[in-house]
Amino acid sequence: MSAAAEPIRIGVAGLGRAFTLMLPTFLADARVRLVAACDPRAEARARFTADFDAPAFEDIAALAAHPEVEAVYVATPHQFHAAHTLAAAAAGKHVLLEKPMALTLAECDLMIGACRAAGVRLIVGHCHSFDAPYLHTRALLRSGDFGRVRMIQALNYTDFLYRPRRPEELQTSAGGGVVFSQAAHQVDVVRLLAGSPVERVRAVTGAWDPERDTEGAYAMLMWFRDGVFASLSYNGYGHFDSDEWTGWIGEMGAAKNPADHGGARRRLAQAGSAAQEARLKNAGTYGGPSYQPPQPAAAALHQHFGPVIVSCDRADLRPVPDGVWIHGDAQKRHEALPPPAVPRSEVIDELHAALRAGTDPLHDGPWARSTLAVCLALLRSSKEQRDVAIEPRICRVCSFAAHRRRPQGAQQAAHPTNPAPLKATWRSTRDL
Ligand SMILES: NC(=O)c1ccc[n+]([C@@H]2O[C@H](COP(=O)([O-])OP(=O)(O)OC[C@H]3O[C@@H](n4cnc5c(N)ncnc54)[C@H](O)[C@@H]3O)[C@@H](O)[C@H]2O)c1
Repeated sequence: MSAAAEPIRIGVAGLGRAFTLMLPTFLADARVRLVAACDPRAEARARFTADFDAPAFEDIAALAAHPEVEAVYVATPHQFHAAHTLAAAAAGKHVLLEKPMALTLAECDLMIGACRAAGVRLIVGHCHSFDAPYLHTRALLRSGDFGRVRMIQALNYTDFLYRPRRPEELQTSAGGGVVFSQAAHQVDVVRLLAGSPVERVRAVTGAWDPERDTEGAYAMLMWFRDGVFASLSYNGYGHFDSDEWTGWIGEMGAAKNPADHGGARRRLAQAGSAAQEARLKNAGTYGGPSYQPPQPAAAALHQHFGPVIVSCDRADLRPVPDGVWIHGDAQKRHEALPPPAVPRSEVIDELHAALRAGTDPLHDGPWARSTLAVCLALLRSSKEQRDVAIEPRICRVCSFAAHRRRPQGAQQAAHPTNPAPLKATWRSTRDL
């Protein structure tokens, strides 16, 4: 087999819920192969070794050093994303990193710098902006057939706050709440469709359950440089479920049972303490006693992140799990997408293109950093009750702005004079 045709050899850091959701992809996509893992949970390590006949280590250092590993899939809790990316890069391994990229922009800069210096790729995903209906909508928008993008509406009502959580997932200062975990998806989708850098946001967050004292909801207005504006709402308090407006197709693309109303609260009631709740979360993930291996064809349609409407001069476009609705001046039509043969194969498309064909990924470090910048601005805008500007990154060497306008259809702007800037090279406009 030629080197280009060899499957990408992946080492998994963190065998929890995120890995459980990616496992159907890893099992079904022949372009990747799982060769090692690490996790402090002995039961998850034992299961991995049994399932894949491959080593499972207790920590990231051993995983990153393992010679079989070509790319590390970092699926550990948010607070480890920076350290685990740096460990992988230091060992010369590419990184596929779960959202959100990190907890601070300073961490993002370190991660981007370390991966560039090591000559390895950094791709941040899975994130719902990889979902085919959003990517197809973006291609339709870029065709110019509908005129300019003017306005975007994105909404999602879920039971996020009542799914079993680790204690830090309910502490904003540790990356908890819906802004770090869910705005990371919604902002990314809206940025992808707007096609222009975010300039300013105004937001308000809600945290009204004292038992789960972190953001459970937000509303945000976003303004983009090209004049597009967007309205984003998220509510994770588990009452209305906006999948009702998506034909009861859930986030993972599978049919959902409308009769399970209130199910998250009922299941959570089994846990009497924070420690029991964390155990309940682990129980259902890989290696846990109630873990269910992926079922074939469990996801019939494309994954999604709630209703989204993109208004252009001559049409409203609505990505949905089976394609895109186009509501034009005189007609409405549905542009169908074939159901996915492999769920989340778009993530492997991007990883494979980067590692085997040298293609620059869309969801690279600077892209994901910009999404985190918006999420942090969302929190700040709510706290300070004011508009918050999103600052471009400026190179200290040549004043190149990372958000500088680039031609329609061009890849992420490349740095013109300094292709591998190190950690201190970037500064924000506030330093100027
Ligand atoms: N893209 C998605 O759909 C999606 C879904 C869920 C979670 N996530 C992301 O994945 C990340 C993990 O969240 P989760 O819900 O899977 O959490 P989780 O608690 O279910 O899983 C985390 C796993 O990491 C392990 N772990 C903890 N510390 C570790 C360390 N130092 N080294 C190696 N492994 C370690 C834990 O034992 C656990 O198995 C988060 O950043 C979250 O945002 C993404």
